[in-house]
Amino acid sequence: MNSDSLPGPHPDRAILWHQERLWLLDQRALPHAAPYLGYDSAPEVAGAIRDMVVRGAPAIGITAAYGAVLGVRRAWATVGRGWRAAVEADLEILAAARPTAVNLRWALARMARVMDGLPADRDPEGPVLAEARRIHAADREANRRMGALGAALIEGPTGVLTHCNAGALATGGYGTALGVIRSAHAQGRLSQVFADETRPWLQGARLTAWELLQDAIPVTLVAEGAAASLMARGGIGWVVVGADRVAANGDVANKIGTYGLAVLARRHGVRFMVAAPTSTIDPHAADGNAIPIEERAPGELLSCGGCEVAAPGAGAWNPVFDVTPAELVDALVTEKGVLERPDAEGIRRLWNARA
Ligand code: MRU
Repeated sequence: MNSDSLPGPHPDRAILWHQERLWLLDQRALPHAAPYLGYDSAPEVAGAIRDMVVRGAPAIGITAAYGAVLGVRRAWATVGRGWRAAVEADLEILAAARPTAVNLRWALARMARVMDGLPADRDPEGPVLAEARRIHAADREANRRMGALGAALIEGPTGVLTHCNAGALATGGYGTALGVIRSAHAQGRLSQVFADETRPWLQGARLTAWELLQDAIPVTLVAEGAAASLMARGGIGWVVVGADRVAANGDVANKIGTYGLAVLARRHGVRFMVAAPTSTIDPHAADGNAIPIEERAPGELLSCGGCEVAAPGAGAWNPVFDVTPAELVDALVTEKGVLERPDAEGIRRLWNARA
């Protein structure tokens, strides 16, 4: 089956379950092209997560959930009654696709719990697919709620700076940080939206800019190195970012460069907001030191858009996330409420309040 019968590409449709297949908007091609790629097996889905066809913490959790459905389908078709044990290898492959975003493991744990409650002798695909759809729909709803809660904190009109892409493309739809920005824009609270270009994958330049412009929200790109001058110049009220994992003490892992922005924000009296659903909280990570930070291939830094940009022979260190200490976070916005100056007690409250 080709992608002709799919609806047109849109940031809110980065992940589609269509005619019994998983379809992903290939984010590596944006903004110049927006092709959908189709998937029929869990290992292929794991590859798509690893290779950045789909990225962003909630989005890779949702994608892995649909990947688990494909794993269950294959297990039932090949071994019948023994499907539950047979699907385990696929769940492990999916869980190992990327290490930092806890949403991936969180979604797979939810899928496994549903599988554990199913009979061995009946086709499990229906109930397992229903759980993946629930995870997808709940994420969209959570983003709408966070959008409203986060926007209410922004006493505008003011400028905001965002980093990477924490938008519809990175979630089930609407976005976390970009959900806040969408909502604040609609309420007239924003004078200007700045986006860091976000080397090396350029999620800011390619994805955030494309996504905001689809909604006719004007966006101004800056190189990461311009953030200090931007804040020093005045007019920026908030930095608004997403998260890949929030530790039990409120430390936040997000795209590399986020920590630097938080330091700069505190230095310049700019407030720092993290918008993330409770599925991004990891109660087992005591603090940021317990969060695994993904390091990707040096080649991603040494080249740009397929062109070598570094002097031949140069090495590169390419950690793709960093940890912002809780003390630098002014507000953690979740679908269960806002935590000002997050700490262990508040994180525990939010975790216990989740569905
Ligand atoms: O490497 P990526 O593009 O997956 O990194 C994404 C981010 O760091 C996002 O800010 C984070 O996942 C939050 S997405 C709502």
